[in-house]
Amino acid sequence: MSSGGIEIRLTLNDESVAARVDPGDRLLDFLRYQRNLTGTKEGCGEGECGACTVLLDGIPVNSCLIPVWQARDRVVETVESVPEEELAALLASGATQCGACTPGVVMTAWWVRRNRDLVDTHSLRELMAGNLCRCTGYDGIIEGLEAWLESAASTGGGEGGA
Ligand code: FES
Ligand code: FES
Repeated sequence: MSSGGIEIRLTLNDESVAARVDPGDRLLDFLRYQRNLTGTKEGCGEGECGACTVLLDGIPVNSCLIPVWQARDRVVETVESVPEEELAALLASGATQCGACTPGVVMTAWWVRRNRDLVDTHSLRELMAGNLCRCTGYDGIIEGLEAWLESAASTGGGEGGA
């Protein structure tokens, strides 16, 4: 980061954060290197793989493509914000093998989990299409997400988080 930079304020994982950033920095780098939120991974670095997925105002985005200044006054959620107990269904289904894609998969799945009406108009495979995985063949991811949605429905789990 240059010695100058700009001040931004954002809500990060439910915490109000002020930071001085280089406007050219990516949101991905801000999260990993300024905030030490290393759960968010870099895969391709060019918007293809989804490993860097975070939620920006509740919507999945590729943080490798977002200049950090665009997060100013907005709400960012990373994989560290997802309650661990929420992940049981994904872990049980074999949704993760090498784990490189997993944080991004979790964030997109968390978005689906919190917006279950999405499945009325889209298949889970369509909703997860922005997250590439070279290991699982996707079946484990989809099965885990189905089980996650079912368990949330059977326990009366409504919208979680923001
Ligand atoms: S690292 Fe961002 S989409 Fe691949
Ligand atoms: S588990 Fe290895 S890339 Fe998805």
